[in-house]
Amino acid sequence: IKYFPEPFRIKSVEPLRMLTRAEREQKIKEANYNLFYLKGEDCYIDLLTDSGTNAMSQEQWAGVMKGDEAYAGASSYYKLVEAGRDIFNYEYIQPVHQGRAGEKVLFPLFLSKGKVAISNMFFDTTRAHVELAGARAIDCVIEDAKDPAKRVKFKGNMDVAKLEALIKEHGAENVGLVVMTVTNNSAGGQPVSIKNIRESAAVCKKYHIPFHIDAARYAENAFFIKRDEEEFKNTSIKDIIRETFKYAETFTMSAKKDAIVNMGGLIGVKDGNSDLVLKIKANCISFEGFFTYGGLAGRDLEALAIGLYEGIDESYLQYRNGQMEYLASRLDDAGIAYQAPIGGHGAFIDAKAMFPNIPYYEFPGQVLAIELYKEAGIRTCDIGSYMLGNDPDTKKQLKADFEFTRLAIPRRVYTQAHIDIMADALIEIKQNAHKITSGYKITWEPPILRHFQAHLEPV
Ligand code: F0G
Repeated sequence: IKYFPEPFRIKSVEPLRMLTRAEREQKIKEANYNLFYLKGEDCYIDLLTDSGTNAMSQEQWAGVMKGDEAYAGASSYYKLVEAGRDIFNYEYIQPVHQGRAGEKVLFPLFLSKGKVAISNMFFDTTRAHVELAGARAIDCVIEDAKDPAKRVKFKGNMDVAKLEALIKEHGAENVGLVVMTVTNNSAGGQPVSIKNIRESAAVCKKYHIPFHIDAARYAENAFFIKRDEEEFKNTSIKDIIRETFKYAETFTMSAKKDAIVNMGGLIGVKDGNSDLVLKIKANCISFEGFFTYGGLAGRDLEALAIGLYEGIDESYLQYRNGQMEYLASRLDDAGIAYQAPIGGHGAFIDAKAMFPNIPYYEFPGQVLAIELYKEAGIRTCDIGSYMLGNDPDTKKQLKADFEFTRLAIPRRVYTQAHIDIMADALIEIKQNAHKITSGYKITWEPPILRHFQAHLEPV
């Protein structure tokens, strides 16, 4: 397919360097086969995450100069609050330094020991904050999401019947929170429909359970709704966003994704006068700083206020999605399996399909991530059993529903030629995949969020 042209041109550049294959093999070995230990400068194309790795615009950089650094009541704070209210139609907007800070502030207000939280799928840090609050996290995505080859729209949706069954099983009084993650990152950046949001919210209402949105990629989700949900094909992105958030009472957001900043996050509360807001402010003051800056510098608040609008611009979203579709078409041509149709922020390659003989406990997603680095200096990450980790109660390795290697594409950063290098590297690896018959084992791991720090070695 045709590459959708960038609605911008490049004003400032960041040089890259490519190591030799021998150097890369040495670097990944020194990194204990954990890509998080690699230096950024040793990666030619860095697809570890789309979080905080985005390119800011000239308006955002100009905003950085104008940022108001007042400790309390900075004008940049008010500008951010105004943007947040305008876009989400929520009364209370709380800046925090990133998404997980929002989770740390908010989740203990809903969750404690003995409670569960249910989501279409929790991202790893979000799951960790549920567990840190003493509760247990349950994923409840539709079954279709578990079959990477099955091309269905809104593959990130909640399984609404299962949600209700889980509520009955655990008792409504024990379900502290239902979290709708848009887009569904762990299922492949797959979108959630308004219909599904409405139905999930209705179940929560029936059982008096708070309904919360994990909004990291809300703008990409809105783009999919406009493209694929008949009712909204003539609705503006902003109105789709307002419709999305209407059904929840609260949201947390990592602004490092769709708000196109390098650092930042938000908590939103629909009812600005609630007790909850007082508790959020109290927690925020303890953990993040005074509630008018929430762990961010004034310049960050200013860049975020601007980025929120740039991230919902339709021509930008079209280009963003076009880049994904172009990568997907190259993968389709080469017969490389991925979570299809392609999601909003990258390609989730089906590493189980690439390496059918490598068992989940030897981490096929990690195997492919390491091969991509060796092949072309591309840094990616495992979204599979390696990331999922051990059962918090039994400490046994969990088996993930998928074994993905995620190529998360930063926003406004890489060009068509870079996308071609990604596809070419995957094709090269696929051609030699039969030669790789074993994976990796963990030689050391910390107790929580182990994938960031674990040491591995080839089996
Ligand atoms: N929720 C979702 C759905 C996320 O994808 C992330 C982060 C967070 C919450 C936490 O936000 O990083 O700002 O603290 N995801 C990144 C990723 C790290 O690579 O997918 P954070």
